[in-house]
Formats: sequence, structure tokens, C-alpha cells
Amino acid sequence: MKYHYSSMMDFIQPLPIAQLLNREEDPGQISFANGFPDPATFPVEELRAAFDRAFSRYGANALQYAPPEGLPSLREKICGQLKESGIRCELENVLLTQGGSQALDLIASMFLDRGDTILCENPTYTGAMGPFDMRDVNYIGIDVDQEGMDIDQAERALAEHPEVKFIYVIPDFQNPTGATLSLSRRRRLLELAEIYDMLIVEDSPYRELCFGEENLPSLKSMDRNGRVILLGTYSKILCPGLRLGWVVASKEIVSRMTALRIASDMQCSSINMYALDEYFEEADFAAHIRGLRRLYSEKKQCITDAMRRCFLENVRYTDPQGGIFLWLTLPPQVDAARLLRELVLPREHVAYLPGEGFYCRTPQKNTCRLNFSGCTVDQLETGIERLGRVFRQVL
Ligand SMILES: Cc1ncc(COP(=O)(O)O)c(C=O)c1O
Repeated sequence: MKYHYSSMMDFIQPLPIAQLLNREEDPGQISFANGFPDPATFPVEELRAAFDRAFSRYGANALQYAPPEGLPSLREKICGQLKESGIRCELENVLLTQGGSQALDLIASMFLDRGDTILCENPTYTGAMGPFDMRDVNYIGIDVDQEGMDIDQAERALAEHPEVKFIYVIPDFQNPTGATLSLSRRRRLLELAEIYDMLIVEDSPYRELCFGEENLPSLKSMDRNGRVILLGTYSKILCPGLRLGWVVASKEIVSRMTALRIASDMQCSSINMYALDEYFEEADFAAHIRGLRRLYSEKKQCITDAMRRCFLENVRYTDPQGGIFLWLTLPPQVDAARLLRELVLPREHVAYLPGEGFYCRTPQKNTCRLNFSGCTVDQLETGIERLGRVFRQVL
């Protein structure tokens, strides 16, 4: 039969290249392409015990429907975790979501009509562009340097386009570049949002993964007028399989978003919420995060050391101060997707994600994103040696 899809489906792209890189067919492949956390860090035994306790304590109730905004005790704990980073919020400001992905989709449904305009970093997270694209939005893409979004450019763009619906920004160790929005730019971004009376969507899955001692204040912590919607997720700091994340926003937004999510998926998994709540009761989560920071900082050091040894000056790369990604810029004539397809994958069995898919305008084909959390130290070194071999031959 011929299927008659909605016009929204026109905006759904075929599977991104990362998922087409089939490691089963190429078992020796070293992949920098995905955004996977290191599975060795997943607290399997502690979570198993937490699930057990959840079943013992709540019995069948752990499998019953739960409040659509999420378990109150878990939301309470999230408020406590946020308080430590200077964010004041109450239970009614918190909505549990199925990861950051659902939060982005809910935000797109709540605020975007066909043809609306949003302002974001260029490049930005492709997973956010999915739900935004489905609403057929116009993007104003702002360049990113080592201090994050170029605020002068953003200011000029907003003066020209006061119709912007919201600003979407990933201030901490951005996906894909690894850049961090500097403190002065954070302040200016909030000022601009005040001047133009705009919402900011602050998407921050990597915030806890900082390599230094202290993080910069989140935009939400500086927000006085309910202007910032902050998205968090346990995907990168605990495990993605629980599919649990959260939105912190004004009570009005959270209440309307809850009504919207009821119409979509009703709630997050009850047992997963009970188990996460139990995990937080017993586990030393702060120590777990410290361990992740140490591990990923070592991995970042390892991959950048290998790059210094193996790459020539014509390959530039970012030096992120946290998170799980860095960004390569190859000489301008190079097409990173073609290089991957024709040489890097078949000859060296290494995968990266070509950067062009991360741009909402004027894609730079000579860029690529590398993830360093999902590889072992040996794989990081070998993968970069192999990549360096190709680069030295053809660039
Ligand atoms: C910037 C950003 N936002 C949101 C997400 C969504 O994460 P999840 O749905 O797994 O919580 C990701 C995942 O890579 C991301 O990088």
C-alpha cells in the first residue's frame, strides 16, 4: 500500500551516519563517532540493588502509573542537586522527562509554529535540530569560538530579528565543539534576552563533567524572570538506558509542559524513577561524578596528546575543558565525509562524525566531531595514530 505521511515526515532525515557505521561488519573499527559514555562507568551493581529495593519497598506500586511530572521524592532530590550549583527551585519547577531528547521535543511543540525563527549556535546539536526542523523553523545560526556563541554576532542578529522565538544554547562543553560559553558572554546573553524579552533554552547534559575545579554559573542560576528553561539528563553522568532527564523552568511552563506530556507519553517509566530515587538514597553520587570527571579528563588528555604527536599543523582541534567531544578543522578544501567514506573507514577502520550535519546554515565540510568518552585509552591512541596516517598522506 502507499502510505500517506504527514508533512512533518518530510523533515525527518535518514539515519545519521553514526548509526550507519556498522561495527558488527567491521569488528576492528575504532569509533569516535557516537556520543556514548564509557559503559565501564555505569554503576550496574548499585542500580541492580536499587531496582531490588524499589520492588521490595513499593511492590506492585513500582509498576503502577506514577505522577506525570515525576515522583515527588525524585524531583525533591533534583532540587537538592541543583541547589548545590546555585539554582533555586521548588518541586513545581521540575518535570522529569525521558532524557534531554524528550524535553527538546516538548519545547518544540510548546513554543514553535511553522515558520518561526530560533537563534542557536552554528554548529549545534543535531538531535535538537530534529524536533526544531519538524516545525519547519528558520534558524539564525551564530558562530562558535573557544568562548562559545559569538555574542556580538548574536546581538546584531537579534536587533535584526526581534521575532526570534527563543535562543537555544549549550553553554557547557558544547556538543559538538566542546566549547564553553564564557562568563561575560553568559551575562550578555541574559541581558539580550531581557532586552528582547526572549526565552533561553539552556541545554546542559555535560555540565557536571568539568575537568577543572569549578563550573561557570549556569544561565538558569542567573535568571530572575523565569526566562531560562534548563534541560538536564542522567544520560551522560549515570547511564542513558534509564532514559531519565529533567526540565527546570517557571511553574507556569512546567505545568503546561506536564499537560502536554500527558497527551504524548503520560509519564516516565515508574520503576526507573523508583530505582533512580533508591540509587540516590544509597549511592555516593558526588563521588561517582568525581570519578567520571577524572576518567574523561584523562581520556581528553590522552587523545589530545596523541593528536599533538600524530597530526600536522594543518589540522586544528579544540581543547575542551569538560564533556565528551572535541572538534577538528581540516584544511578548507577537504570534505571530511568523503574522506571518511573513501579512506578513513575502509583503510584504517576508524570512524568520526563529519561536521557538516551539525550546521543549521553554511555547513563547513572540512570539520568533524570526535568523541573520547566511549573509547579505551588504547583505542584513543591507536585511532588517532591511524587517523594521523591518513591525514599526513592526503592533506
Ligand atoms: C546537547 C544535547 N542535548 C540533549 C541530548 C539528549 O540526551 P538524552 O536524550 O540521551 O538525555 C544530548 C545527547 O547527546 C546532547 O548532546
